[in-house]
Amino acid sequence: MPHIDELVLDPPFNVTRAGHVVLDVRDLNASRHFYTELVGLVVSDEDDSAVYLRGLEERGHHSLVLRESSEATCACLGMRVRNEDDIFKAQDYFAAQGRTATLVEVPYQGLTLRVRDDAGVPLEFCASMEPRERMLKQYQHYRGASAQRLDHYQLQVSDIRQAWRFYQALGFRVSEYTYSTIGDRQHLWGVWLQRKGNPHDIVFTQGPGPRLHHFAYTLPDSNDMIRACDVAGALGYAPCLERGPGRHGISGALFTYFRDPDGHRIELFNTHYQHIDLEPALGWDLADPKRADQWGLPAQKKWFTEATPFTDVALTEPDIRVDPPTLERFLALANDG
Ligand SMILES: [Fe+2]
Repeated sequence: MPHIDELVLDPPFNVTRAGHVVLDVRDLNASRHFYTELVGLVVSDEDDSAVYLRGLEERGHHSLVLRESSEATCACLGMRVRNEDDIFKAQDYFAAQGRTATLVEVPYQGLTLRVRDDAGVPLEFCASMEPRERMLKQYQHYRGASAQRLDHYQLQVSDIRQAWRFYQALGFRVSEYTYSTIGDRQHLWGVWLQRKGNPHDIVFTQGPGPRLHHFAYTLPDSNDMIRACDVAGALGYAPCLERGPGRHGISGALFTYFRDPDGHRIELFNTHYQHIDLEPALGWDLADPKRADQWGLPAQKKWFTEATPFTDVALTEPDIRVDPPTLERFLALANDG
């Protein structure tokens, strides 16, 4: 078992960052409205069955694809690699492990490799997308939260160590992790893994999985988070505000979480830090209330229990259940006191 700080500095191929997420939604127009008017994403292309969106600073064609479907699931998570050679290296690497790794053509993307990780999460690796105008300075088009770029994914999986091993072998590094003490040993509850030099590209926490807990976009300023809440109230999306604004302990980000019309969860955040030097990972006890929110209020129970399944991927329950510190329990204890 590798140590949590063990590094793979010469990975088999070069993943550069979390790149795009594909969501199946039941009402394309309702989802399009949520992501353009509240989140502030820009439509790059659309047809009757799909909408391709990007953040205001993004040059690539899309970071979010919405597909009309009868089910609200996540079809895949995208990872960018440095160049097309990395696609072929990835294909060789996964084939040598006996995995099915298939080269496919995907609209608006360069050569794309599809493969599943050890938990069954469908992944797409691609090196390029059709370029579109970077809208960073087109302030007249800023709407809602003015989301700038996709930053990371967070997943629930039943086996944290299995997920960690898969991504660590691809050169992902742990920036922070959570644990709980059970008996005389520490049980790993979550790992924050990164390739691009900030705290995370992909996060795994323990739970029935695999499920997509949330995906996250950066905002230009903390004021944009307040504006997102104001716009949510004005447009009737107030019930979609699930958590925040608040300040994470892990990563230090100022955050807000919304649920979209299908219940897919999106985080809007800013102000996390660089993680480039080869520093040891930072560990947090799950019982530390400042881990999740420096301001003191834990998340509602549903934030821990509800998440998006992946399309046609069966769920597995974890061996050990850890009781999360919920807002409901926090309030019950406060009232008892
Ligand atoms: Fe997040």
